[in-house]
Amino acid sequence: MSLISKIRCALTLGQGLLIENKTLTTTDDPISFFKAWLKEAENSGIILPESMTIATSTPQGRPSSRVVLLKEVDQKGFVFFTNYGSHKAQELEQNPFTALLFHWNMLQRQVRIEGKVERITTEESNAYFQTRGRGSRIGAWASHQSQELDNRETLVQRVKYFEDKFAGKEVPLPEFWGGYRVVPERIEFWQGKADRLHDRFIYEASENGWEIKRLNP
Ligand SMILES: Cc1cc2nc3c(=O)[nH]c(=O)nc-3n(C[C@H](O)[C@H](O)[C@H](O)COP(=O)(O)O)c2cc1C
Repeated sequence: MSLISKIRCALTLGQGLLIENKTLTTTDDPISFFKAWLKEAENSGIILPESMTIATSTPQGRPSSRVVLLKEVDQKGFVFFTNYGSHKAQELEQNPFTALLFHWNMLQRQVRIEGKVERITTEESNAYFQTRGRGSRIGAWASHQSQELDNRETLVQRVKYFEDKFAGKEVPLPEFWGGYRVVPERIEFWQGKADRLHDRFIYEASENGWEIKRLNP
């Protein structure tokens, strides 16, 4: 066994078989399972463990992907925030099917989520927006996300414009900014193991709740 294989092996030792792990069992719903893994990723010291890749595609099936931050997760789904005029948002409005990907390399774990997005309510977006720092709130107003910018000075000027406009006032939620919830239909948990004999479990939504299957690595 090569050194790198030994290191990989050592890294996964002690984590136990995913499904036999005492704290995580097949009877768990995948959201609780996901939260337990996210907590372990946070505790492992990984920087921004809540960062996830989100894939979108045009109605013709041309995909694109980028990283966003997971801000909420519960039984309803996975919530992130963005500019509703951005490239990703325009694609999601036309084709709400999407896929999320988390990769926690130190833990040799990957979670794949597939489902459909829906916009969260303005009240929910506002509740989150008001928790952001003032600079981020101004930044949301100033950025025409994904549109061409002639130079950085234009952006700096727009920031200045909104700083003046909202001076001494609360920064309100822009109507072009808010959250999307990815309502999951499939969630796959992948745990790296020695010799590429990885564990994979997929939860699929059905009329009777979540069904779980083990997949070949
Ligand atoms: C670590 C990280 C976190 C990010 N978080 C967000 C986010 O939560 N929301 C967002 O709109 N963009 C976020 N971005 C920027 C996006 O990756 C992307 O550049 C931007 O949303 C424009 O994408 P689009 O043109 O496909 O719409 C983040 C980027 C990185 C690297």
